[in-house]
Amino acid sequence: MNIKSICCIGAGYVGGPTMSVIAQKNPHIKVTVVDVNADRIAAWNSEDLSQLPIFEPGLDKVVAEARGRNLFFSTEVDRAIDAAEMIFISVNTPTKTYGAGKGMAADLQYVELCARQIAKVSTSNKIVVEKSTLPVKTAEAIKDILDNTGNGIHFEILSNPEFLAEGTAIQDLETPDRVLIGGESTASGQKAIEVLKTIYAAWVPEDQIITTNLWSSELSKLTANAFLAQRVSSINALTELCEKTGANINEVANAIGTDSRIGPKFLKASVGFGGSCFQKDILNLVYICKSLGLNEAADYWEQVIIMNNHQRERFADQIVKALYGTVADKKITFFGWAFKKDTNDTRESAAIYIADKLIDEHANIQVYDPKVSALQMQSDLNYLNSRSESDNDSYLSSEKDPYKAAEGAHALAIITEWDEFQNYDWKKIYDSMSKPACVFDGRNLLNKSELEAIGFSYQGIGQ
Ligand code: NAD
Ligand code: UDX
Repeated sequence: MNIKSICCIGAGYVGGPTMSVIAQKNPHIKVTVVDVNADRIAAWNSEDLSQLPIFEPGLDKVVAEARGRNLFFSTEVDRAIDAAEMIFISVNTPTKTYGAGKGMAADLQYVELCARQIAKVSTSNKIVVEKSTLPVKTAEAIKDILDNTGNGIHFEILSNPEFLAEGTAIQDLETPDRVLIGGESTASGQKAIEVLKTIYAAWVPEDQIITTNLWSSELSKLTANAFLAQRVSSINALTELCEKTGANINEVANAIGTDSRIGPKFLKASVGFGGSCFQKDILNLVYICKSLGLNEAADYWEQVIIMNNHQRERFADQIVKALYGTVADKKITFFGWAFKKDTNDTRESAAIYIADKLIDEHANIQVYDPKVSALQMQSDLNYLNSRSESDNDSYLSSEKDPYKAAEGAHALAIITEWDEFQNYDWKKIYDSMSKPACVFDGRNLLNKSELEAIGFSYQGIGQ
């Protein structure tokens, strides 16, 4: 069976780019991405491609090719669900902020709503694909809802977690290391796997499409993120030791990364990982382990988060210490607010936590980020803390010109590794700053000896 019509519920960082690439590579399939957020859908439909709701290198070209041909963005959720043979659920699954499992478990309310809506409006058989990252065994609940509240039609559930990273989403989707599809071992389950496989096989070599049972697929996604985050925390856990002993974390990472068993990727010391996935997914893994009484496994994975929190706090503490123990009324400039380069996403960015800690010390923070709006920065800070919005406003400001942002600053903190920072006129920045001009390079992005030659007091991470 070849699918002619797909619906994706959720037009976010995953649903938007993923469906754009599926539509681009399968021009014979009509792909409709729906969302309850009308502003987001309007932005996806914007004539001006620089106004798409998310910034991803290369995304504009893919959207330009497929949109209006076989790719559509709409708020008409019910109609798109009923018209589709295959439905991807790609809604958010944030950490719960209330009730049982608060602060740890994944909040599955949006996923459940999708399942109920699919059950309610569907009048023909569907393959329902979990694209969102979900706790292991979620497919069981989805199937239960579909079978018990539906119109007696047949639903097949697949798990097809997404491994794209933001900033490289299009590249990751076009040349994925692998595509993972989990399904039931029944004949209809296997058939559904084959149908989804055909869609990816339009551009992904078949030997890179891995098939497993549902639970292995769900758990593999949490595991992949836990392993990746663990690598960042592992390298970060050595940075303090480097600073105390004269070892250099960049050299250590290079030395160990050449061991083919370890490999060179994901060994960049930093201010701490951010993004919407790592912390949420590890907390969820810890919660699942605890719920099953697996306390040692839970404690093991929780350390990854503990280390990350420590790294962010340590960075803020270093700034205060270097500025003679007080940052009150001092201007501290942040270069970067996004959680990594090449994205406008700020969810769980280390910037938010570091700014919060420094504002507790009454520092004035001014931020330059090439892709993040002032409004977004304020709302990130308001969401995190209990300070009044007007207090946050008075301590945090943003500036569109990086040179102006640095003027008069006592310290400059590199939070995001935007490439453009390397090409700045650092002598000009030095001349405009209060002395001693300190640079805290939370990404080890700049050249220490070049900055020291200019006169900066330079502190990298783990060097
Ligand atoms: P997101 O918040 O950017 O997008 C989710 C969208 O779903 C929102 O626009 C929201 O309005 C919409 N939505 C929620 N409930 C809805 C409903 N009932 N009907 C219609 N629309 C609804 O989230 P995201 O970053 O795209 O993540 C989605 C899922 O993918 C999460 O489970 C996440 O863990 C997973 N994931 C994310 C990434 C990433 O890099 N962001 C990578 C891999 C996996
Ligand atoms: C991650 C996973 O990589 C991706 O497979 C999954 O689908 C979603 O979660 P993402 O969060 O978008 O992707 O970006 P990623 O490149 O993994 O970076 C996450 C955080 O770790 C960023 O803050 C990044 O700066 C940080 N990081 C990454 C480091 O500090 N050091 C590194 O070596 C790598």
